[in-house]
Amino acid sequence: NPVPDSAIRGPVLTFTGDPFASSVEDTMLYESDAIVAIGDGVVTHFGPADKIQPQLPAGLEVRNYGPDALITAGFLDSHVHFPQTPMIAAFGEQLIDWLKKYTFPTERKFADKAFAASVAKVFLDECLKNGITTSCVYCTVFPQSVDALFEEAERLGMRMAAGKVLMNRNAPDYLLDTTQSGYDDSKALISKWHNRGRLMYAITPRFAPTSTPDQLDSAGALWDEFPDCYMQTHVSENLDEVAGVKQLFPERKGYLDVYDHSKLCRPRAVFGHGIHLTEDELCCMHQTGSAIAHCPTSNFFLGSGYFDVYRAKDPKRPVRVGIGTDLGAGTSFSILSTLNEAYKAAQLNGKALTAAHAFYFATRGTARAMYIDDKVGSIAPGMEADLVVLDMKSTPIIDYRMQFVEDIHEALFVQMTLGDDRAVQATYVAGKLQYEQSKAR
Ligand code: GUN
Ligand code: ZN
Repeated sequence: NPVPDSAIRGPVLTFTGDPFASSVEDTMLYESDAIVAIGDGVVTHFGPADKIQPQLPAGLEVRNYGPDALITAGFLDSHVHFPQTPMIAAFGEQLIDWLKKYTFPTERKFADKAFAASVAKVFLDECLKNGITTSCVYCTVFPQSVDALFEEAERLGMRMAAGKVLMNRNAPDYLLDTTQSGYDDSKALISKWHNRGRLMYAITPRFAPTSTPDQLDSAGALWDEFPDCYMQTHVSENLDEVAGVKQLFPERKGYLDVYDHSKLCRPRAVFGHGIHLTEDELCCMHQTGSAIAHCPTSNFFLGSGYFDVYRAKDPKRPVRVGIGTDLGAGTSFSILSTLNEAYKAAQLNGKALTAAHAFYFATRGTARAMYIDDKVGSIAPGMEADLVVLDMKSTPIIDYRMQFVEDIHEALFVQMTLGDDRAVQATYVAGKLQYEQSKAR
């Protein structure tokens, strides 16, 4: 183990397993006064403060955030479009019209590398302000937009997955690639970026309607060549979209089968939304090790529906599920606000998402969906030191409400229901303090 070069102290929440698979008691770990020590960007020590303090090198400064803080693993976002940052909160349309009216014209601007770089900076700063240390990011069809995102993520030392959108039909000409150019550009980006430091490449066919079967096959073939990459796309988000896919691919059993047929259902596949998947499709997801990114703020904003997370996680055939902001159809960079909306989506399905399950999604659950739960998403020696420090009394009403909470579960539920970026006090990336909220608000 590396020698610690820094340490922080305060209440800590982390997970040792999946509360959907066993119990919350067996998988949620809360220490009311803990120390997390860091060396070489990884956690070297974690445990009760009185037990860890004597193990630390003499003179190591321990930064104490105090009893009103909560230290957790950095949050993860399994589905987000960085080029849509300039068009978050665009009025009045459901998915297909929203894409045509707002999304495609905005993404056109990313042919300009300087513009892409400026947005990448705003985007990643906003992630850090919200405690997000890892995301799975859609760029645009332009390879330079991928360079822009990775260059900034590398500068910040973040563990990020991203990829060039593949799209060769049913979009404006100015955004189309071809099967061959999409393959060539993606392959060149993989050589340049995949596994460089903490960066990871995601092969990114936008969704079935904007790729020919030939382009989807080519994405599957590229993935065969680089099987440890990600593959991200959208599935069964909107009922008109599902009907459109039926028309475009009449020979396939259903929407997911379009992807499965092109060998795109595997471990490290991240499918956005999946609201309207059938039982057979959920079985296919389970069997192939594919994951769903649950994006509740987006689903409500576009009127797409409300994803049933307990159904997806049914222990008979559990599907990996991560949480996603899906900006700019998503309406917030805040993972806390996203958990708030996930709770409401569960309510509409007649189920109650507990705070423990919600915070699992924000951290280890999404890391597991992305097959990086051995690296990030929980706090333990050897894990990469991506950490967020929450202020549990970040607004007057939260401060007031917190005096009435009786246990950590209630406290967490208040945070996810009322909290937002103001609750994020500090964000550490690989042990380095990369964001600290200024106290003068
Ligand atoms: N489906 C295809 N592209 C998109 C997109 O950019 N956002 C959302 N929410 N759904 C999509
Ligand atoms: Zn999306």
